[in-house]
Amino acid sequence: MIICYCFLVTKEDIESRIANGETLAGIRATTGLGYGCGGCASLAERTWGVESTLEPGNGSSPDTGAVNIFP
Ligand code: FES
Repeated sequence: MIICYCFLVTKEDIESRIANGETLAGIRATTGLGYGCGGCASLAERTWGVESTLEPGNGSSPDTGAVNIFP
């Protein structure tokens, strides 16, 4: 299944690379995933973006933190 139509990156390629220890950021850097039209970026981040970080919110709840999608 193609995830990124701009650079023809498939789900299988992404999952194989992650299984071999690559991060989503590394995959993006080497394949261009998400750097064309950007249409696949959100899906890729939601599905494989384990390196996403939470920024502190107002301290009242963890749910108030903002999600950094991409550095
Ligand atoms: S579909 Fe991935 S950057 Fe356009």
